Amino acid sequence: MTSQQAWCFLPITALLLSLLSVHTFAEVVKSMSDCDHFLLHQTPPHIPGILEDGKILNQNQYKPICQTYKNKRRFVTLYDVRNKIPLFSAFRFVGSIPGKRPKTFWKVEPQLESKTLQKNMVPRDKNKTYNYQAGDIDYRFNGTFDRGHIFPSSYALTTSDKLSTFTLTNIVPQAESFNKGSWNKMERCTKCVMEKYCSNSSGGTEGFVVTGAQPSLNSTLNNRVNIPSTLWSAFCCYSATAKKWIASSHWGDNVQDESKNKYLETKTLEDLHHRLKMSNSEFIVFPGTQCPLQTTVTEFYPEMINCHCPPTTSDPLFSLSGSIAYPPSHLTFIFTLFIYSYHHCLICLARQID
Ligand SMILES: *[C@@H]1O[C@H](CO)[C@@H](O)[C@H](O)[C@H]1NC(C)=O
Ligand SMILES: *[C@@H]1O[C@H](CO)[C@@H](O)[C@H](O)[C@H]1NC(C)=O
Ligand SMILES: *[C@@H]1O[C@H](CO)[C@@H](O)[C@H](O)[C@H]1NC(C)=O
Ligand SMILES: *[C@@H]1O[C@H](CO)[C@@H](O)[C@H](O)[C@H]1NC(C)=O
Repeated sequence: MTSQQAWCFLPITALLLSLLSVHTFAEVVKSMSDCDHFLLHQTPPHIPGILEDGKILNQNQYKPICQTYKNKRRFVTLYDVRNKIPLFSAFRFVGSIPGKRPKTFWKVEPQLESKTLQKNMVPRDKNKTYNYQAGDIDYRFNGTFDRGHIFPSSYALTTSDKLSTFTLTNIVPQAESFNKGSWNKMERCTKCVMEKYCSNSSGGTEGFVVTGAQPSLNSTLNNRVNIPSTLWSAFCCYSATAKKWIASSHWGDNVQDESKNKYLETKTLEDLHHRLKMSNSEFIVFPGTQCPLQTTVTEFYPEMINCHCPPTTSDPLFSLSGSIAYPPSHLTFIFTLFIYSYHHCLICLARQID
């Protein structure tokens, strides 16, 4: 073979090599089902107009990413390349290790940009802006909006799992005090509940979590990255302790917390479905499962110590103090009214006895 002939083979060799590597390393996968082991019953949420019966309707805008770190798949994200934020990340909670969040670099996903085959990596040029995802620079100069984790690093069992969450494809611009305040309390409380109650048939800790963001119409960070209007989260698991499936949901507007005492209200899955449905199509977070639609786990909150769970109504002093935005004000009002009438009645009785 002359050297000229060899040159002719180069493109085809490159093509073959690249096809081969897709199979070995691909992280931006073709469909959700290529990375379904982080989903309860291997079934992704049903999101009207976007992800229906496991099919991504607009494959140019929404890319499933099998989040891989050190050659191991860690969780799955459906990424919106137009808005440059994840629509949701889904993961299996199997317990967590205590400890600070690691100091690390922010990774990006080169496969979203081109066909070049590289893994989830730390970019060499941190000032680079990308066409199909957010870059470090998009978040760098803004004190109002944090890099809000969708899959929180605090929910990961190993250091590598934690590090894997530090990819900008798992991040949304999140109002700083919302991220560090009410959203953080919700994450801690839910983690406590899962640690204590979620156990599968073989006795291991196992809970399924889906956390997502609802893009805003047109509010952006650095004129590029959508600032979502709402963040939401739901979990479901079998509880050997409670001998039933348990679930809850939460959501919050992506604005600064109005008070340090703010809590997100614990809602049912059905509440979340109503909140996220479109006019003619249903949103379903755990389709085809036994996750209860109409109950929450608030019954367990009184025993969750140091977990930052919302005060429950069995804790009446809290709701009367007025400084805590939970339970909702109408409940507080009814409760106050009740105490007042009760008290009043006692006085009446006392007078009658006199
Ligand atoms: C990145 O941008 C910052 C601020 O604009 C600048 O100080 C720095 O030199 C830039 N770094 C590179 C590698 O271009
Ligand atoms: C139960 O959860 C553990 C993780 O805590 C996992 O390793 C195991 O495979 C699960 N067992 C079943 C039957 O799903
Ligand atoms: C939002 O989008 C609408 C329609 O495209 C446009 O008329 C409006 O000016 C935009 N608002 C902002 C704040 O960019
Ligand atoms: C942060 O981003 C928001 C939304 O784009 C913008 O209104 C605000 O001025 C930015 N703050 C800084 C310090 O750049």
